Amino acid sequence: MAFLEVRDIQVFYGKACSLNHVSVRVEKGAVVGIIGPNGAGKSTLLDSIIGLTDCRGEIIFDGIDLRELTSTKIVRLGIGYAPERRNLFPFMGVKENLLVGAYCARKEMETNLKMVYEMFPILEKRQNQESRTMSGGELQMLSLGRAVMSNPKLLMVDEPTLGLAPLVCLEISRVLMGLRARNGIAILIAEQNVNFALRLSEEIYLLETGKVKMKGVPEELKKETYIKETYFGV
Ligand SMILES: Nc1ncnc2c1ncn2[C@@H]1O[C@H](COP(=O)(O)OP(=O)(O)O)[C@@H](O)[C@H]1O
Ligand SMILES: [Mg+2]
Repeated sequence: MAFLEVRDIQVFYGKACSLNHVSVRVEKGAVVGIIGPNGAGKSTLLDSIIGLTDCRGEIIFDGIDLRELTSTKIVRLGIGYAPERRNLFPFMGVKENLLVGAYCARKEMETNLKMVYEMFPILEKRQNQESRTMSGGELQMLSLGRAVMSNPKLLMVDEPTLGLAPLVCLEISRVLMGLRARNGIAILIAEQNVNFALRLSEEIYLLETGKVKMKGVPEELKKETYIKETYFGV
């Protein structure tokens, strides 16, 4: 069994089916990318893993069935989440926002805070500044940093490059790769930025209208005519 095993899940919003028999596996320490257009179901998949949807099917993490658990319990088990909407507290300081992420890893708080500041020196410089005054790239760093404060074994990041300049995207990928190399954590990335996802991931799932349309290693997927035509305009 894989470290994270999503088996045949289905999510309905009313009558609309947002995930239609989706299965995804993430091995320990692996980086897996979920790509696909707007509305494909990427965020719904990550939301389901962290317990925010009402879904059918199985979601097993480290041998434990997540489906009956609350999000808090799931975070405690070792899944960190940097959601697309970021959900930061705009009138709280940068450090305070980071500490919110530490609620289930209190013992490791100091060590993790140090690690986040090493990863993103800008967050240490701005630690007392209200987060609403930060740029888009800085907010993304704060959101990632907060997810890391929960000491995850699996980090889920939703559209980390959305609206960010290329240099900031590079910075984000450097940090994600660093986290993986240093802490051996697995990473599940949802991205519309296909190039970014292909560069970072060992395995890619292409979601379209709630279904896994293709999956494979980046080198293979890049050669697929469908991917070339649809996502690279070749
Ligand atoms: N809370 C919700 N209520 C109703 N429909 C939703 C909700 N969240 C997502 N959806 C629908 O589910 C589908 C997948 O959305 P989403 O997971 O956000 O896609 P993606 O992240 O790939 O852009 C879309 O059709 C979207 O409109
Ligand atoms: Mg989304």
